[in-house]
Amino acid sequence: MKNITIAIDGFSSTGKSTLAKQLAKHLGYIYVDTGAMYRAVALFSMQNGYISAEYFDKETLVNSLPNIKLHFEFNAELGFAEMFLNNVNVEKEIRTIEVSNFVSKIAEVSQVRAKLVEQQQEMGRNKGIVMDGRDIGTVVFPDAELKIFMTASAETRAQRRFDELQSKGDNVSYEEVLKNVQERDYIDSHRDDSPLVIADDAIEIDNSYLTREEQFAAVLELVDEVI
Ligand code: C5P
Repeated sequence: MKNITIAIDGFSSTGKSTLAKQLAKHLGYIYVDTGAMYRAVALFSMQNGYISAEYFDKETLVNSLPNIKLHFEFNAELGFAEMFLNNVNVEKEIRTIEVSNFVSKIAEVSQVRAKLVEQQQEMGRNKGIVMDGRDIGTVVFPDAELKIFMTASAETRAQRRFDELQSKGDNVSYEEVLKNVQERDYIDSHRDDSPLVIADDAIEIDNSYLTREEQFAAVLELVDEVI
């Protein structure tokens, strides 16, 4: 069995990370959630007052990029790696609706993308990795042996994200979550640098009506064909 690179891209809340975690566990691969990295940069920008509902000081963020250190640490209890921003575990903070509301603006900045893409490519240098995001199959690993592009209706995705936030005690309305999902999809698909597009050689999976198990089984067949 050879070690390969698996790229999973797609719209917000399509269950990319659930699938990626299942695959990584099954194959004994590393899993990297690149959205967590963009979210951590958004959190840093919020904490330092570079971004708010009224303004975005892009220049100061770009100048501060050398002060942002990101790393993942595997949590054996949870079974996946958690995100650390300047050595502080921010796994919880980066999942709030506030961070979701700013992250796509941060992800439009080319200098931010360049820094994170470099780190992502370094993490995948030895293959044996499942990485999910928006530009993994197109920009980060254009040579990935398996590329999956996930979709589902906006309503299905918003409902899933809403349920997840509710279960964490986040007091947010379904309408707010739906608006956020739609806005992020729009910004992510229309930005100049590395927009969310389906790679020519990606396999599209619409999981609106698939259970996790059905989806996992379908993807395992694809993996078997490549490995
Ligand atoms: O995957 P998640 O929904 O957590 O990603 C949060 C945001 O980070 C996305 O909406 C997108 O703006 C940005 N992102 C990106 N490129 C990636 C991963 C995430 O632009 N590879």
